[in-house]
Amino acid sequence: MKITIVGTGYVGLVTGTTFAEIGHEVLCIDNDEKKIQKLMRLEMPIYEEGLEDMVKRNFNAGRLRFSTSIKEGTEFATVIFIAVGTPPGYKGEANMSYVERVGREVAENMKSYRLLVEKSTVIVNTNQQLKRTMNKYLEDDIPFDVASNPEFLREGTAIKDAFHPDRIVVGVESQRASKLLREIYEPIVKKSNCEYLEMNIASAELTKHAANSFLAMKISFINAVSRICEMTGADIKQVAHGIGLDGRIGKSFLYAGVGYGGSCFPKDVDAFIRMGDELGYSLNVLKEVQKININQREHMMRKLQHELWVLEDKVIAVLGLAFKPGTDDVRESPALYFVPQLIERKAKLRLWDPIAKEKFSELHPGLSYFDTPLECCQEADAVLILTEWPEVKELNLKKLKEVLKVPIVIDGRNVFEPTDMQKHGFIYKCVGREPVGLPDKK
Ligand SMILES: NC(=O)c1ccc[n+]([C@@H]2O[C@H](COP(=O)([O-])OP(=O)(O)OC[C@H]3O[C@@H](n4cnc5c(N)ncnc54)[C@H](O)[C@@H]3O)[C@@H](O)[C@H]2O)c1
Repeated sequence: MKITIVGTGYVGLVTGTTFAEIGHEVLCIDNDEKKIQKLMRLEMPIYEEGLEDMVKRNFNAGRLRFSTSIKEGTEFATVIFIAVGTPPGYKGEANMSYVERVGREVAENMKSYRLLVEKSTVIVNTNQQLKRTMNKYLEDDIPFDVASNPEFLREGTAIKDAFHPDRIVVGVESQRASKLLREIYEPIVKKSNCEYLEMNIASAELTKHAANSFLAMKISFINAVSRICEMTGADIKQVAHGIGLDGRIGKSFLYAGVGYGGSCFPKDVDAFIRMGDELGYSLNVLKEVQKININQREHMMRKLQHELWVLEDKVIAVLGLAFKPGTDDVRESPALYFVPQLIERKAKLRLWDPIAKEKFSELHPGLSYFDTPLECCQEADAVLILTEWPEVKELNLKKLKEVLKVPIVIDGRNVFEPTDMQKHGFIYKCVGREPVGLPDKK
């Protein structure tokens, strides 16, 4: 089937390429000319394992094309996926202006039936607004449908997630839309044997925000428990393992650390809270989730400050700039909180990340970036671990100690074993775990 994707970012590019790989003919549109030119030269605007090969293969086979023209995209396919950004608005609500603009532009260029599919994460009942907008901008009485098909892929494992999703959620309100979307997803459903859930549009829209909010809640919950661990001598890894084996709870997302970041959780939790407030139902549980998340970062900063006393002129090696391993995405990454704080306190920064250096340096030019973790840690007064990259986990602890001026490691991702670190002579502060005995009273 012919498919148009509007918005060729993390979601749009992965989705479009996946659709091409399963045999569809795909046109990816973006209004960022530089991005589209790059893609036409087969240069990737983002890092995602396996993506580059798949883009090249499908582009060369003629199943995947790129363009900046929404007119071309509207003419090309009956089904048009919207995968543009839905960033936070100035009050934290989801900014739907990009989605609205696509709806408007599609309506202005439509000559016959089109199915507009919301793949971007949108607030519940966005479909109604989209329909109203389209009706206003349509010149003739041309039929159309709106559907919701929220995306659940995770950066870092996006290709795997696209071919083996836990489920596919589709919100439709016509047989025609239902048939088109089933046809598109049939190869993936057959191959992965995943559940294909068809529901009404509001439920599909809400499923995405509720899922992300729940995952953020799990992270904040385990972070809250980690604070109790630090006050009592309990070990958060053991506690998380103990509770995670309960099938009702599950093991995933029970990793204590510097809190969640990325382009989705912070903004989606915020948008969900705003939506509740607007509806007259305060989602207090999520307000607390946000507070815990912010507090966790401040708590790590206090740990660093506690060890170094004065941060001015101290050399801090920051390991990890991406919000998680496997991606170059730095949106809302913990490093974007810590780096400005450390600059403000006049610390001297040395930064390392295997793939997010470029994106981070666009936001923080003029800082010192290094190619390996060990180079980064040379003569540092302390190391701050913010992303659990394999290169960090595999660090040779003996060598690490040798290159540091002072063997202080503040680990925001619980990468190392406290007892190992103590044996190697480090002053090691992580999350919800202590090397020996009871923690200091803080
Ligand atoms: N990144 C993720 O892991 C992820 C996962 C699930 C869902 N989502 C959701 O998917 C949506 C997209 O996220 P993303 O991370 O891919 O964003 P992104 O910023 O990487 O990509 C969005 C793209 O849309 C383009 N765009 C904006 N307005 C446009 C327009 N009018 N016409 C054409 N192109 C336009 C931008 O130039 C950009 O390239 C968001 O709603 C997000 O919440 C993201």
